[in-house]
Amino acid sequence: MVSRVIPVEPFDLVIFGGTGDLSRRKILPGLFRRFCDGQFAGESRIIGAARGDLSTDDFRQFVSESIDEFGGVDSCSAGTKAAFLDILRFVSVDAKGEGGWEDLKAIVRPDAVRAFYFSVSPALFGDLARQLTSHDLADGQARIVVEKPFGHDLKTAKALNAVLAAHFDEHQIYRIDHYLGKETVQNLMAVRFGNMLFEPLWNSQYVDHIQITVAETVGVEGRGEYYDRSGAMRDMVQNHLMQLLCLIAMEPPAKFEPDAVRDEKLKVIRALEPVDWHHVVRGQYSEAGDANGYREAVGDPRSTTESFIALKTHISNWRWAGTPFYLRTGKKLRARASEIAVVFKDAPHSIFGAEAGRHRNALIIRLQPNEGMTLDVTIKEPGPGGMRLLDVPLDMSFAEALSGAEVPDAYERLIMDVIRGNQTLFMRSDEVEAAWAWTDPIIEGWTARKDVPKPYDAGSAGPEDSLMLMHRDGRRWREIR
Ligand code: BG6
Repeated sequence: MVSRVIPVEPFDLVIFGGTGDLSRRKILPGLFRRFCDGQFAGESRIIGAARGDLSTDDFRQFVSESIDEFGGVDSCSAGTKAAFLDILRFVSVDAKGEGGWEDLKAIVRPDAVRAFYFSVSPALFGDLARQLTSHDLADGQARIVVEKPFGHDLKTAKALNAVLAAHFDEHQIYRIDHYLGKETVQNLMAVRFGNMLFEPLWNSQYVDHIQITVAETVGVEGRGEYYDRSGAMRDMVQNHLMQLLCLIAMEPPAKFEPDAVRDEKLKVIRALEPVDWHHVVRGQYSEAGDANGYREAVGDPRSTTESFIALKTHISNWRWAGTPFYLRTGKKLRARASEIAVVFKDAPHSIFGAEAGRHRNALIIRLQPNEGMTLDVTIKEPGPGGMRLLDVPLDMSFAEALSGAEVPDAYERLIMDVIRGNQTLFMRSDEVEAAWAWTDPIIEGWTARKDVPKPYDAGSAGPEDSLMLMHRDGRRWREIR
């Protein structure tokens, strides 16, 4: 299958924090892959901006190395790489002072699409927004891109939104949640709203429960300082898991357009039932035989930050009343496995008798690795011996079905959407605030009570209590593998 690449208009993309880790691992190699695919039309340019005193040649060297390490494109010729390096510039800019802003202004073209990526600490968002407008670098058509963490709680998120809103309209602000750029996450919408098959069953009458799991094998990996201030609730649940929940649960938007989709997502978050913090399972990993795994990694022997969360919630609306949603995420778990399982109810009457056992259909949407979907259906176990039933997956691996088509990384797709001016896969300010309004009371609860997370072994499926969360309801998590 040949992938269709639709070129974007010529653009100037300025990356503040252009020599930072995200830039090196994701943004720049991702842009290179889009360039290789021929997606840049006309004269587009990428301008690294940071405080350091780099020359454009130094920056090109930095990008060349980041492509070698993270580019992952073997099919691109050396000539193409040289052409990509050629469109790079570097400007040394001081976010808080005057240094570099006139140099930047001399480079950025008024007639190209202008996008400014704030790949810096949120503490600098206000300064950058102010500098861009006061130096006439950004007009009403310019776009800014911001990353999570978008706030630490509702109060700080509101303050950040206000700072950005003082200089930019909402239609210019692209808040990235990279989960929305993942291929399968978008496919979830295609499957739900492009087929007749699923939507009639997509409600509490037919769905027993939904599980969302984002399991990681990595630990905090050198991000201890940030992570220990955040924990899994802020780092993963408030944003990535919440977005997955929204896409699974939302009503069909009238159109696949930014505000139509985001309005529906917002309604889901607002309809989420509050969860009592006592009922949330918090865990912290310990290395096998070493009780200090997480604490050692973050350098705080008394840290009570969680690296694992499991919880159950409900959505109070007509579609979902009575269907629980179970969410779980954690670091240093048995396997890297992110998936959503929509588990359907039992058939209303079994004509096969009790000995046939209990069988349920489940639609599994696998985000990573091995993106794809499976639908568990019940069939007769082959061979003699009577009517014994068996659940087997109807499997559709995207890699096989779409053989040859490269699946772009989430960042590549999202950055191209910024250039196209399409906000559908970006979070709106009210969505972010509503998500914090739901998570804040939970976090406040355990902070006030000085709750200590339950230890779990690195390489396990998380704390025992998370299994109990399901067992109590007569259900069980799908295995992490
Ligand atoms: C980031 C979190 O947003 O997402 C990380 O800060 C986490 O802690 C990462 O590891 C997971 O992303 P992915 O794409 O690897 O599932």
